[in-house]
Amino acid sequence: MAESITITDNRTGESFEVPIVHGGVDSSAWKKNLPGVWFTDPAFTTTASCESSITDIKGDEGILRYRGYPIEQLAKDSNYLEVAYLLVNGELPTTEQYDQWAHDVTHHTYTHENFRRRFMDGFHFNAHPMGMFVSSLAAMSTFYPEAKDVEDPENRKLQITRLIAKVPTLAAAGYRFSIGMPYVYPENDLDFATNFMSMMFKVAEDKYECDPAITKALDILFILHADHEQNCSTTTARTVGSAHADPYSSVAAAAAALYGPRHGGANEAVLRMLDDIGSYDRVDEFIEGVKRGDHKLMGFGHRVYKNFDPRATIIKEAADNVFKVTGTNPRLDIALKLEEAALNDDYFKSRKLYPNVDFYSGLIYQSLGFPPEMFTVLFAIPRVAGWLSHWSEMLEQDSRIARPRQLYVGADVRDYVPIANR
Ligand code: SDX
Repeated sequence: MAESITITDNRTGESFEVPIVHGGVDSSAWKKNLPGVWFTDPAFTTTASCESSITDIKGDEGILRYRGYPIEQLAKDSNYLEVAYLLVNGELPTTEQYDQWAHDVTHHTYTHENFRRRFMDGFHFNAHPMGMFVSSLAAMSTFYPEAKDVEDPENRKLQITRLIAKVPTLAAAGYRFSIGMPYVYPENDLDFATNFMSMMFKVAEDKYECDPAITKALDILFILHADHEQNCSTTTARTVGSAHADPYSSVAAAAAALYGPRHGGANEAVLRMLDDIGSYDRVDEFIEGVKRGDHKLMGFGHRVYKNFDPRATIIKEAADNVFKVTGTNPRLDIALKLEEAALNDDYFKSRKLYPNVDFYSGLIYQSLGFPPEMFTVLFAIPRVAGWLSHWSEMLEQDSRIARPRQLYVGADVRDYVPIANR
C-alpha cells in the first residue's frame, strides 16, 4: 500500500499522485496540476502551515512534547529557564551552557528608564495589564532598532535573550502601575520565578521572600505554557515574522492574539465565569445555559486535544500543592462540580469537550495573589519563549512571506452609479 493519495480532475479525467510525508501532502503538486483551484480552510482546521521540530501534540492521546521530551517529565524535573533554552536551541543545555544562559537572561532583565517613566506612565489609570503588555512589547522595538536585522543569527539570539529576560519586568511594571505602586527593579540573585514575584509584590521589605512551594508552582505553570505548536498566537508570530518584521513587533502581534477570550484570555474568563455562577448549587443551572447556547463553558474544549489536555492534569496536581500553602480557593468546589457535571453530560462528551490548560490555572494564579486581569499576562510571559522559537525556526527555514489565497464570492464587475442616481 503506497503512502500516497491520487487526485483525479474529473473535468479532464487526468490523475496525479501525491506522497504522504510526515502526515501531510504537499500543495505544490496540486498547484501544478490544478492551477487556480484553491483549498478552502478558513480556521486552518485541517491545514499544516509549516514543518516544525519544536513541539509535538498528539491530540487523541493527550500527548505534549517539547523537542521530544514529554511535558510530564519537564514539569517534574526541569525548570522554565532550562525549558526556554530547550525550545529555542533544540537541545537540553549542559551545565556550562545553562549557567551562561541563566547569566545572560539575568543580566537582560532591566528596561530603559525612559520606557518606564515616559511610556508605562502614559497609560490611563485603569488600563488592562494585557493591553499594557501588548503595547510594551511593540514599544520595545523602538529601543532596539538593530533588531530589524532578522537574518543575522547572532542578532536574533541577542533579541531572543532580551525578550525572554524582559517580559517579567514589563508584566510586573504594568501591574505595579495599575495599582499605583512604585516599580520594583529586578534582582540578580533571585531565580526567574522569584524575581518576577518580587517585582510584582515586594513592598517595603529589604528582600522579598516567597514560599518555595509557590515559586515552584509558578515555574511549573511557566513550563506548561511555554509552547503549544501552531496555536492562534504562535501562528500569528510566524505570519508577522514572515514579513521580516522585528521580533518585538512579531511577539507583540502574537500577544494581541493571545489576549482573545477564545485563546489566552480564557483563564481570566474562567474566573469571571466561576464568580458569575457564584455557588455550588447554581452549577447545574449554568450547565443547562451552556447547552442552550446562552454561554460557553470557558476553560473547556480544544482544537487539538479531544480526550484530555495533559497540562490540565499537571496543573490540577500543582494546585493541590499551592492550596496546602495558601489554603484552598473557595471557587475550587464550583470548578470541580462544573467539571464533574460536564464530563458526565452527553452535550460535552459528544463534542469531546474537556478541561483545557485554562480551566484550573486561574484558580492557582488567584491563590498566588494575582488579580484575574493579570492571568493572560502570566500565560504570555512563558509563551514568549515558544513564540520566539517558532519565529527563529521560520527564519532558519527561509520561509516565504505568508500570503494565503481566497475564494471570491462577492459582486461581479459593475459600473459606478453617481449618488444622485442611487
Ligand atoms: C488555549 O490552540 C491552542 O493550542 C491553544 C492553547 C495554547 O496553549 O496555545 O491550548 C491555549 O487557547 C486553550 C483554549 C482556551 N479557550 C477556552 O477555554 C474558550 C472556550 N473554548 C472554546 O471557545 C473552544 O473550545 C475553542 C476555541 C478552544 C476551540 O474551538 P474549535 O476547535 O473551533 O471548536 P468549535 O468552536 O468548532 O466547537 C465545536 C463544538 C461547537 O458546538 P456545535 O456548534 O458543533 O453544536 O463544541 C462547542 C461549539 O459550540 N464548544 C463549546 C465549547 N467549546 C466548543 N460549547 C460550550 N463550551 C465550550 N467551551
